[in-house]
Amino acid sequence: MNILEIISKKRDKKELTKEEIEYFVQGYTKGEITDYQASALIMAIYINGMNDREITDLSIAMAYSGEVLDLSRFGENVVDKHSTGGVGDKVSIILLPIIASMGIPVAKMSGRGLGFTGGTVDKMETIPGYRTKVDVNEFIQNVEKVGISMIGQTMNLAPADKKIYELRDAISCVENIPLIASSIMSKKIASGANKIVLDVTVGKGAFMKNKEDAEKLANQMIKIGNLAGREVKCVLTSMDEPLGYAVGNSLEVIEAINFLKGDMLEDVKQVVLELGAYMIKLAGKGDNLEENKQKMLQNIENGQAYKKLIEMVQNQGGDISYLEDTTKFEKSKYISAVVTEKTGFVQEINAEQIGKLSCYLGAGRVNKEDEILKNVGIILNKKVGDKVEEQEFLAYICADDENKLREAERKILEIYKIEDQEVEKQPIILGII
Ligand code: URA
Repeated sequence: MNILEIISKKRDKKELTKEEIEYFVQGYTKGEITDYQASALIMAIYINGMNDREITDLSIAMAYSGEVLDLSRFGENVVDKHSTGGVGDKVSIILLPIIASMGIPVAKMSGRGLGFTGGTVDKMETIPGYRTKVDVNEFIQNVEKVGISMIGQTMNLAPADKKIYELRDAISCVENIPLIASSIMSKKIASGANKIVLDVTVGKGAFMKNKEDAEKLANQMIKIGNLAGREVKCVLTSMDEPLGYAVGNSLEVIEAINFLKGDMLEDVKQVVLELGAYMIKLAGKGDNLEENKQKMLQNIENGQAYKKLIEMVQNQGGDISYLEDTTKFEKSKYISAVVTEKTGFVQEINAEQIGKLSCYLGAGRVNKEDEILKNVGIILNKKVGDKVEEQEFLAYICADDENKLREAERKILEIYKIEDQEVEKQPIILGII
């Protein structure tokens, strides 16, 4: 067997055997297969697809490319959460401390930004001192000590996904069901939870642009999970406009902190509560979804969820004075308020375009080794359905480069679609599978 034969088979639309998939995953993880060969195969998979059996074999091979954790010491039901990606998606930073504050252990391995979407690891790293590079033992010790740990994919958990994820980002091979399903499920299987809640985003700012594709992705991940002995629940959520108001790494962290302090934005709240209600149910801590939501709200109101965030950040070396006083987060060099010339109702704020604009400002990467800028991005001031008057602020641009600032000011006016007719707010929870 050799990699050239494997690439040409997939290039010619043929099915790969389990052994060929394992050969690729192991060889690429060990560095025996080069980035350019892996790129060719990933692009061939992107274009020619994979059948269910190949996708499952790819997921399992990626999961077992490193250690597979056993978290059974934390109980019979250990629950985890992941999102298929979005713009302004700060849900994990809010939801997981809430869940941990209810006594449900949380061991979460997150990703970095991918394509036009942001990543939880990049966001958490904007808190000075917070360590996302944590080894397996410390990860588990953290969960034992404070009930929660959120880390990056830097240790020996699904290392194949870490490499393939970065490669996909750098070669424009992100929006693809076999690659997303195997990426997410390999991480979830390796990190040890036996119950998994997935936020499957749908719309302009998601990788699945319509509900039909999102359902296919959800079903694919459920199948992989079941074959690996994991129970998986998928919540389909709308991602046509950005979630919340802030898009950009530290900007989103600040919004998440404020949420846990009680400033709950409606769309974010709905997603957090829906996912959380299922996490609590799968954890065996309450079958009634409405009651679960009420308990979550209680722990926000009584400060327990915020306290858990503080404990987690402190335990991983983060400077909690930034959480207590979010004005301490360094500001971007330029902050500009963009004013509209129009009067009417906001019809659309294309989340993909906002995500790309945020990346253009420096919040995301073009090359896999690129450093991201922590403090740049966009803060929306108006959302879809809002009425706007001439000379009102639509959004704030946070930039470190003056030319980029000017370009972003121009672009944001194109992205906001404002017309005379009123717009009905669309539901944010689109289905449960
Ligand atoms: N999140 C992941 O972990 N992987 C993907 O491919 C997309 C979103």
